[in-house]
Amino acid sequence: VLLTAGPTYEPIDPVRGITNLSSGKMGFAIARACRAAGAEVTLVAGPTALATPRGVRRVDVRTAQQMHDAVAAALDAAPRTDVFVAVAAVADWRVADPSARKLKKRGADDVPKLELVQNPDILAAVARRADPPWCVGFAAESEDLEANGQAKRAAKGVPLLVANIGHATFGRDDNELLLIDERGSRRLPRADKASLARALVAEIAQRLPPRRG
Ligand code: C5P
Repeated sequence: VLLTAGPTYEPIDPVRGITNLSSGKMGFAIARACRAAGAEVTLVAGPTALATPRGVRRVDVRTAQQMHDAVAAALDAAPRTDVFVAVAAVADWRVADPSARKLKKRGADDVPKLELVQNPDILAAVARRADPPWCVGFAAESEDLEANGQAKRAAKGVPLLVANIGHATFGRDDNELLLIDERGSRRLPRADKASLARALVAEIAQRLPPRRG
């Protein structure tokens, strides 16, 4: 199983950047639950202070591009990876041309203009690969979980999409999940992230096609 977790950090200059409030707790809990279920697990983690779950191989990255490249390298190294779970809250945009020097405020009206460009969509790229692993996406929404989740599942081209409320999960030890697949949706009610992770791993295992060649 290959997973991404945590936020990404997109530099503006050597001391500033764009990031988000993802703690990595949900992704790390799922990595731990996969390992406990007997999987060989690689976890590509954005910046977080969390301890590596025992028995899990961890690759630390900062930016979305680095996360994309680490995921591609992990899949190239282990082409028979069965499952990919994209839990990371990847920044949609990065600064086009980060400054090599700290930006200085030079006067009362001095405001830097930042040009943003889109980051690669890691999950969509994995789902588009020839012979992809079975892909699970996450969606942090603010409302309308089911409709937004179904739309996102279709847009990303993945069999299972897990929707949650962004501001009700980031940084917390508990969460609630809505699992959306081609048959409809199933709610995993509010619980600690370790329990939800175990339940999600069981749901993934039930849906998984027979092991590939
Ligand atoms: O489009 P949105 O960011 O809401 O999609 C969320 C899902 O897509 C999550 O599974 C997230 O890990 C993944 N994602 C990604 N690369 C991006 C953006 C999102 O893998 N650049």
